[in-house]
Amino acid sequence: VHLHDAEAAVLTDAIFRYALDRVRLDPAPLDHPRTEAELQALAGGSIRPDGVGGLEALRRFAEVLAPACISTDHPRFLAFVPAAPTESAILFDLVVGASCIYAGSWLEGSGAVFAENEALAWLAALAGLPASSGGVFVSGGTAGNLAGLVAARHRWRSADAARARTRGLLVAGAAAHSSIAQAARVMDCDVVTAVGDHRNRTSGESLQAAVDGLAPDDRDRLFAVVVTAGATNTGVVDDLAGAADVAGAARTWLHVDGAYGGAALAAPSARPLFAGVERADSLVVDPHKWLFAPFDCAAILYRDPAAARAAHTQHAEYLDVLTERPEWNPSEYAFHLSRRARGLPLWFSLAAHGTAAYEEAVETTLAVAAAGADLIRAAEHVELVLEPGLSVLVFRRLGWGPTHYAQWSDRELRAGRSFVVPTSWRGETVLRVCIVNPRTSVDDLRTILDSLQ
Ligand SMILES: Cc1ncc(COP(=O)(O)O)c(C=O)c1O
Repeated sequence: VHLHDAEAAVLTDAIFRYALDRVRLDPAPLDHPRTEAELQALAGGSIRPDGVGGLEALRRFAEVLAPACISTDHPRFLAFVPAAPTESAILFDLVVGASCIYAGSWLEGSGAVFAENEALAWLAALAGLPASSGGVFVSGGTAGNLAGLVAARHRWRSADAARARTRGLLVAGAAAHSSIAQAARVMDCDVVTAVGDHRNRTSGESLQAAVDGLAPDDRDRLFAVVVTAGATNTGVVDDLAGAADVAGAARTWLHVDGAYGGAALAAPSARPLFAGVERADSLVVDPHKWLFAPFDCAAILYRDPAAARAAHTQHAEYLDVLTERPEWNPSEYAFHLSRRARGLPLWFSLAAHGTAAYEEAVETTLAVAAAGADLIRAAEHVELVLEPGLSVLVFRRLGWGPTHYAQWSDRELRAGRSFVVPTSWRGETVLRVCIVNPRTSVDDLRTILDSLQ
């Protein structure tokens, strides 16, 4: 359907103005969810034979649907893992959308693939992976973890034909993200979880004990050791060097899940925590979490891309023209074929601002988190539940139980003040904030702590 020229001009103008205004809101309103019945009454019935027209559809979005979505980039959105895309990354996302690029193959998208690979190479270099490593941007950490583990199992199976029907097994650190268990379910393999310490950090010794504790038959089924570089609930980074020793001794694959925390590789102050990451066989880092890219953008990197390629390449008559070429085809490094060039907004923003700006921005968030921890230590009504990891603070409001936390959290969101939700630690309901937005200030944290009084 081509719009008539005049109509197209008006609609184009309206869409660009909306997008620009939204990008420039500082901050955007926090907003809050609405019920399905409310949304139905206010904006339902948009899909019908004659359409409602572009301007009316945009109005429904701007006035009803968008305000029913919490702004993940609000500086006091501190629940889960927030987002803080740069203005240039967001604007370039519009360019990516307009460019109709198929970024699954070099033949069709070489320019985009080249640029995405530059961004991936920056991440690989931060981790100290060899220049020959490579990977692809997938939709999220969940997809990245599954892609990495599928490659790990494929290498294990390929080494011995007798393993073709053997169920695989992975040993995971205590704080492994739920997506590791989900990947194991999808892959129909087993997970043995190592024991964590008082912060739920998993050491090499603990991983070794888990491997040593496997029955001989199970030992043969081991295809990966999985550790977390920045646990979602606590920010704690596992003992990566110890994990690399264990994986090396067991001649198995080391997968490091840095979906949230891997961004801190860019911060010199945090880099020592990641010692050993350079020995990973696969590494996940999500730029849509803490590297200022818009959703969705997660990097899966492989030390030996050929191993991943062997696991993931789809073969079909009509695809031979792509897969038989020597160039880099992103579709061959995860379980997907068609893909948007979702790494380009990151590439553009990195190119525009320089990597030093990224280093500074990640350091800023770490410093604000550290200052927030000091505020908690100094206050009488709250206390840290454990020593903070990276930019996550877990703390309790003295005297409160689950209902108090839930009511406070709802009230703050409804009032548009903050979005902080409870989590649990060793069975106790507590509060957790995750700081990835350089616009989140120490004052924001002070305001939230004061509201708990
Ligand atoms: C450590 C870790 N791994 C994996 C994931 C899953 O990432 P995604 O939500 O992008 O699928 C998360 C999400 O917070 C995470 O923190």
